[in-house]
Amino acid sequence: MEVVIRPDADDAGRTVAGIIHHAIVEGTKTLGLATGASSLGVYRDLARRHRQEGLSFADVDAFLLDEYIGLPPSHPQSYAQVIRRELVDHVDLDPVRVHAPRGTASDPQQEARRFERTLTAAGPVAVQILGIGVNGHIGFNEPGSSLASCTRLKTLTDDTRRDNARFFGGIDEVPRHVITQGLATIGRASHLVLIATGPHKAYAVAAAVEGPVSAMCPASILQLHPHATVVVDELAAARLEQQPYYRHIARHRPAGQGY
Ligand code: F6R
Repeated sequence: MEVVIRPDADDAGRTVAGIIHHAIVEGTKTLGLATGASSLGVYRDLARRHRQEGLSFADVDAFLLDEYIGLPPSHPQSYAQVIRRELVDHVDLDPVRVHAPRGTASDPQQEARRFERTLTAAGPVAVQILGIGVNGHIGFNEPGSSLASCTRLKTLTDDTRRDNARFFGGIDEVPRHVITQGLATIGRASHLVLIATGPHKAYAVAAAVEGPVSAMCPASILQLHPHATVVVDELAAARLEQQPYYRHIARHRPAGQGY
C-alpha cells in the first residue's frame, strides 16, 4: 500500500484524477466509481482533463459501488443521479455504460446478485475509486461486514445516515437500506485508490492504514490488496504514525514511477 499525502483536498482530487487519466491512456476500460463528497474533486478534475486535455471515456464502462434502496434513478440523491450530475454530464462517458444496482428493484437481494454477476462478467474493474466513512466503511460495508462479502443488501448505521443527512432534507429522508458491493467484490479490482480529506477522516484513515485488518474497519482490507493507493490531504493524514516514512517515499520516488 502506498500512502500519498497532499497539501489540501483539491490537490488530493487532482492526484486521483491523474491516476485515472494515466490508466485510461494505458488502455483501461473499466472504472469503479464512488459517490460522496470526497470524490467530487476527482470528478471535477476529470471533467477539466476531458475539456482541456482530450481525456476520453468513450471506451469505458463504469460501475458504481452502491445505491440506496427505494430511490429511483431520477431521485436527485440516488447515486445513479449523483454520478450523472457530477461526472457523466461533463465527459463523453456513455450513460448506458454506467452500471449501478437498481434501488427500486422489486427484489433487492436478487438485484444484488444480478449486479455481482454483471461485475464478474465485465472482468475485474481496473481502477476502483473509494471514499471512507468516519466509521471506516467503504462502499456501504459498515463495521462488522464480512471480509469475504459480495454485493448484497445492507442496513446503514444511524451514524452513516446522520452523516449523509447533509445531502437530504434530514436524517428521516435518508434510506435505511442499500445495495453495496461487498468487500471481496471491491477487492477484485486491480487497483484500489482511496481518497480521504478533512480532519473528520483522520481516525478512520489511521485505523485503515496502520491498524489491524479487521471487519470492524472495513477499509483495512486495503492492507491485503496487492495494489492499493491511499491519497489523503494533510488534515486526514494527521493521525498516521508513519507520516515521516510516507513523506520520505514521496521525496525519493524513482523517476517515472507512477502510482
Ligand atoms: C458512497 C460510498 C461511501 C462514501 C463514504 C465517504 O458511494 O461508497 O463509502 O465514499 O461514505 O463519503 P464522503 O466522501 O461523503 O465523506
